[in-house]
Amino acid sequence: MRLTILGGGGFRVPLVYRALLDDHGKGRVTHVTLYDLDASRIEAIARVLAEQAAGMADAPEVSVTTDLAEALRGTDFVFSAIRVGGLAGRAVDERVALEEGVPGQETVGAGGIAYGLRTVPVAMDLARRIAELAPEAWVINFTNPAGMVTEAMSAYLGDRVIGICDSPVGLGRRVAGALGVDPATVWLDYAGINHLGWLRGIRVEGRDLLPELLRDDAALTSFEEGKLFGAEWLRTLGCVPNEYLHFYYFSREAVAASRAAAQTRGAQLIEQQQRFYAHANGSALQAWDSARLERETTYLSDIREAAGAGERAGADLESGGYEQVALALMRAIALDERTTLILNVRSRGTIDGLDPEAVVEVPCFVSANGARPLSVDPLPGHALGLMASVKAVEQAVIEAATTGSRAAALRAFAIHPLVGSVVVARRLLERYERELPQLGYLRGRN
Ligand code: G6P
Ligand code: MN
Repeated sequence: MRLTILGGGGFRVPLVYRALLDDHGKGRVTHVTLYDLDASRIEAIARVLAEQAAGMADAPEVSVTTDLAEALRGTDFVFSAIRVGGLAGRAVDERVALEEGVPGQETVGAGGIAYGLRTVPVAMDLARRIAELAPEAWVINFTNPAGMVTEAMSAYLGDRVIGICDSPVGLGRRVAGALGVDPATVWLDYAGINHLGWLRGIRVEGRDLLPELLRDDAALTSFEEGKLFGAEWLRTLGCVPNEYLHFYYFSREAVAASRAAAQTRGAQLIEQQQRFYAHANGSALQAWDSARLERETTYLSDIREAAGAGERAGADLESGGYEQVALALMRAIALDERTTLILNVRSRGTIDGLDPEAVVEVPCFVSANGARPLSVDPLPGHALGLMASVKAVEQAVIEAATTGSRAAALRAFAIHPLVGSVVVARRLLERYERELPQLGYLRGRN
């Protein structure tokens, strides 16, 4: 089986390769093609992969290319994990938002809109090329903002593109741990859109254990989301939100914490990753792994500090979510190993009140036929309202990216619940256009 990684010089590629190396099952990936625009970044990553594979007789073969047609020819699966504008673009997304007094995060609020405006045109172009050159391939989208980008790519790829994120499965693993149950045996009643979802129940043999957890202060504040949101607020909500909802429920505190921090996340990652990509002597694998650990340790550090959540749990530093979801999805499709996974797919009416073409993040049944969303219980009014607002923002970004309409781009900023002012929205758009050359396609008045 052949896998092509778009963004093959990206920092998290060795995580995926490690999962492939650990998979000795029948029908495993035997060939990986790394595609990237930047040859030096792929070289740096390829050196890490070579060290990971050292001494392993059945290691998947790796080839590298900067030619898209060559990368796609004959491939079975495509992972898309690109970063348009690089980390420098991310740093702009985050800084400009914070300077305007709204949360500065790559996937949430104004930062997510700017990142989407930059990424959607490129992702759609890639989707079109994949549909032409590898029409049989399945596409797994990691590229953030993952829900919006998956929805944009589905215009060319339909249900052959599936978006993934590790935050729901990470949440499920942590909640199961707090309850002392095996994460492999639980049913997660999770629903939402990417980085905006809620765990409403966790069932073992039909019994929902969440009410028990909500009553237990010690257990509730023993894991990341419990520390971020606090026991009282979780009891009030009656569910456990995705960690990214901190930017909504505690938006002023999140802004204050990020503004007080020495650097934006993007600027911090530029420094961390520079130490790896510019690394010339010694082990590339060691340099990569120490930058990886630093990244995990400092993940969402601003909001953890705002919430007084302290350091991350050791188990959360191991990662394992991102690449495991990808591998499980790929095996389920390629080998018909039927399973359920929380994925980003078109809703098809799963969430009442949302456009059936909208991509949502819900449990899906996965088989050789792809991923089908399962029916979920209705969401409470406030959650549905928030989701519908943010989905309208995502769709306005896709409209701007496909038509070049500056008015649609302004609408995206202005209707976002975390922006809250047309005046600020206008300033955000102007400043992003000034600082991000990739937004040069926007036309018309706003
Ligand atoms: C989580 C999120 C991803 C994000 C990753 C890294 O896994 O679900 O969407 O890409 O964290 O975040 P970072 O801030 O380290 O880039
Ligand atoms: Mn994610």
